[in-house]
Amino acid sequence: MLMKQAAADIAPLTGLNEEEVLRLLEVPPQAEMGDAAFPCFALAKSLKKAPAVIATDLATGLQASGIEATPAGPYVNIRFNREKLAPNLLKELGNAAFGKLQLGQGSRVVIDMSSPNIAKPFGIGHLRSTVIGAALYRLYNEAGYTSVSVNHLGDWGTQFGKQIAAYKRWGNDEALQADPIRTSLELYVRFHDEAENDPSLEIEAREWFRKLEQGDDEAQRLWAFFVEVSMKEFNRMYERLNVQFDHTLGESFYNDKMGAVVEELKAKGLLEESEGALVVRLEDENMPPCLIIKKDGTTIYPTRDLATAVYRHEVMKADRLLYVVGGEQKLHFRQVFTVLSRMGHEWSAKCEHIPFGLMRFEGRKMSTRRGKVVFLQEVLDEAVARALQIIQEKNPNLENPQKVAEAVGVGAIVFGDLRNNRLNDVDFSLEDAVSFEGETGPYVQYTHARIQSVLAKAEEAIRVENENTLTNGTIADDVNDTGTTSSSIGDTSWALLKLLGEYPEYLEKAIHRNEPSVIAKYTIDVAQAFNRFYHAERIADASSDVRSFRVALAKRTAERLAYSLHLLGVQAPERM
Ligand code: ARG
Repeated sequence: MLMKQAAADIAPLTGLNEEEVLRLLEVPPQAEMGDAAFPCFALAKSLKKAPAVIATDLATGLQASGIEATPAGPYVNIRFNREKLAPNLLKELGNAAFGKLQLGQGSRVVIDMSSPNIAKPFGIGHLRSTVIGAALYRLYNEAGYTSVSVNHLGDWGTQFGKQIAAYKRWGNDEALQADPIRTSLELYVRFHDEAENDPSLEIEAREWFRKLEQGDDEAQRLWAFFVEVSMKEFNRMYERLNVQFDHTLGESFYNDKMGAVVEELKAKGLLEESEGALVVRLEDENMPPCLIIKKDGTTIYPTRDLATAVYRHEVMKADRLLYVVGGEQKLHFRQVFTVLSRMGHEWSAKCEHIPFGLMRFEGRKMSTRRGKVVFLQEVLDEAVARALQIIQEKNPNLENPQKVAEAVGVGAIVFGDLRNNRLNDVDFSLEDAVSFEGETGPYVQYTHARIQSVLAKAEEAIRVENENTLTNGTIADDVNDTGTTSSSIGDTSWALLKLLGEYPEYLEKAIHRNEPSVIAKYTIDVAQAFNRFYHAERIADASSDVRSFRVALAKRTAERLAYSLHLLGVQAPERM
């Protein structure tokens, strides 16, 4: 917004239009140099003058219309008129529409997210998918799209044959009800251990899955039981993370929709036999074949994803299909999207895999097979316990410490994930993530809470003054204590105000890159800018002429922090 104003001022003096000037304008490397820098190189040719000469002329021209401009080599540095611009900017920040974009024009973005597997632990990859997906969901809505979230549960596949076979041998209903995931996992691990010496187990498993696919009563009933108990546990996690889904449609939902896809593949001559299985060859695209029907006649993961994509396009009316799934499934999605395109579905170009890197918790990784896993509930509990400890040290009189600790501990995990570039591998340190210092969620939350207490103090100061005014008539010295108003907008408040004004550009960048980290880093920048302001300038006890500006600035800052955290899926407690 400010840069636009600068471009409008400069353009008439250059022969360029405003758009062109805006593209050329830079932010000077040091704040002391000014708010904007215009490089004159691009004008040298048309004006047939050296850039430095142009810069001097341009600066003189701008000065003539009252703009603070100084030539610096081939650049013109411009300093905005803070006193003139600040009130408008502050007002703009208070508008409900500020920060909402119209990039999407209402088009529908279907986001495949979370998608854990029944009877298996909710992995850290699923956590990343959940928090990244939930953040993208909200960001897309902010940018004028209609987001639709789908939890594509892994509730089908040969592993259910194993699960049932193991359950038939060693299963225990009580344990399954009480601790479903751990018990299922134990069954699964035991199955693999014992199957090494007992080949009949694999045969039983295959038989059970076949029965399941054919709708056998007992198989179906057991399967439904596994789904139910797992879902109960997953839902507890979603509640803690405050994540909801528009649709929870597992892979099983597509069982009766795959036939049509297979027929279509056949009709279009895309299916080929390969060692008894049916595949789509993708040599031309330098990929291994995409497996559609296995040797034993059962369908497989890619088959289900083909049917799923068609459903999302046709029934959910998706304009774009995003899949927030770990980077290790890159090939799978390339294959699926390529097969869709070979089928003649032009909309396959609207399918996008949004991959992310691996995350380890203090070096511990996930491995379902061996049973050495990190349980997410435990990670969350540990984060909350640490948060509680810090809160009780910092603020022993806080009301509801448990509730605040939950918001801070869970928020620390979510923020600690989202602040990384999505594609980076992350070695997560709980201690770092929960710390109130550094680039953490709790740091941003703490800054937000600090602003609330500053605001409360300011309100109290104003109340006392008003009382004095009533009793004493007037506050006689309610004039400038700083000489000129120009000093009212110090460097740190100005820097903060400008950063708040730039928020829409950050949102746009986050959407273009599918990167919630852009917003997470933005909240850190804002928190740091506020803390610089807080240390350099008085707020609650400033003289009354500058106080209203600073209080308003603090208020807008708190609102932006709370709202940005909310978009990321992190709460902002009023006190902590
Ligand atoms: N359940 C799968 C897994 O845990 C992830 C599913 C991702 N979504 C999809 N449409 N394939 O690996």
